[in-house]
Parts: sequence; C-alpha cells; structure tokens
Amino acid sequence: MVVAAGSGVRLGAVRAGRPVPKALVEVDGRPMVTHAVEGLLAAGVDDVVVAVPREHREEFAALLPAGVTLVVGGDTRTASVRNALAQCADGDGPVLVHDAARPFTPPAVVHRVLAALAGGARAVVPVLPVVDTTVVVDDDGQVTGEVARAALRRVQTPQGFDRGTLLAAYARVTDGGPGFTDDASVVRAAGVPVHTVAGDELAAKITVPHDLQRVVRPAVQA
Ligand code: C5P
Repeated sequence: MVVAAGSGVRLGAVRAGRPVPKALVEVDGRPMVTHAVEGLLAAGVDDVVVAVPREHREEFAALLPAGVTLVVGGDTRTASVRNALAQCADGDGPVLVHDAARPFTPPAVVHRVLAALAGGARAVVPVLPVVDTTVVVDDDGQVTGEVARAALRRVQTPQGFDRGTLLAAYARVTDGGPGFTDDASVVRAAGVPVHTVAGDELAAKITVPHDLQRVVRPAVQA
C-alpha cells in the first residue's frame, strides 16, 4: 500500500490559492504519488492500494494506473494505513507499506525487504546510519547530552510485513493510544521483532521545501 493522504502542511505547496496535498506535488514533472506507485509496480508488486485525501480522490484516480485501488485516508498516517489495510484482509503474501513522499525509492530496496520476508522475517524496515553527531536538547534548546550514534538508524519505507502479523498489530491500535510514525513501531508494540535491511539515500522522504531541491531522479535505477 502507498499512504498518500497527508496534507503537506510542512511542504506548503499551494495551487490557485489552495493547499495541495504533498503526494500531488510534482517532482521531475510528475506527482510524487505516481512515481511511488509506479516504482512499486516496476519492482514486481502485484496489487497496490493507495490511501488518499477524501477531497482529492478524483484527482488521484485520474493520475494512477488502472487496477490501483483507492481508499480514503484518515487524520493520521496510522489511520490512513488502517483504512488501506481493510482492503488487504483477504489476500495472501506479504504486505509492503510505503510513503508516497519517497518517490524515487530504488527497486533494490523493495527487493531487499521482500527477500528478508521470504527468509522468514515477519517485519522488515530499510534503514540508514546516522552520520551527524546527535544530541538531546532541553526546552530552551540547550544541549543536555550526546547520543552514541553507532547504534542509531534512520528508518525508511517500504516496510514489509507478514500479512497476518500486520493485521493483528493494527487491530490492537486505538485512536487514543501512542502516536506511531511508522508501521514497524505498531508491530513492535505488539511484541514482534523487526528486522533491518539497507535503505538508500534515494528513498529519502520529502517533507519540507528544501527536500524538493535535493531530490533528483537517478539516471539509472538499480
Ligand atoms: O507526514 P509524513 O511526511 O510523515 O507522512 C508520511 C506519509 O504518510 C506521506 O506519504 C503522507 O501522505 C502519508 N500520510 C497519510 N495520512 C495522513 C498523514 C500522512 O497517508 N493523515
């Protein structure tokens, strides 16, 4: 599934005076969501469900390849995943959850996640090391400590799951519970070990305007 129902407030894109959802913002001449969905299909994913904002459903439907299923997303990323998961209850095989905001994720990342699932992992995330010195600050912005970065990782998508494991973990999530920012956190909260594979800088998430200047479609995707 591809979650594309975010508002994009931090990106701040505007069209005709109205905010544009982040997934509809164009990079390299096409909307992020189109790149993200086509990337998964090109990597060999069979069925794609996309969570979209209710008021832009028709626009998304016109952009996406035939055969892609659209569902209306929710107020949080977790709610959007849950809505899309309802479409996945009857299938078999693993489920990947991917951010539309990672339009140029190389197929090799998808393949590494799928290979780890095929090898028996129930939950898999692509990760990258933290290269900057990382600190803790207080409310005034004063540094109160350093964090040993060797054990830290930045977590990307697509995240892959055994289907039953993901469905069971999301069934435990309540709207009043802790705010999850990804799906592996939901699964780990249910006591399931999460396996890591190598991510890729090309799978970086587009969040703020500066990210749009940084993102470039790779000339050749491995
Ligand atoms: O907000 P953030 O950049 O972390 O969002 C990550 C992904 O989750 C984006 O692709 C965004 O469209 C999606 N999302 C969603 N529903 C929400 C919030 C975010 O599908 N309510």
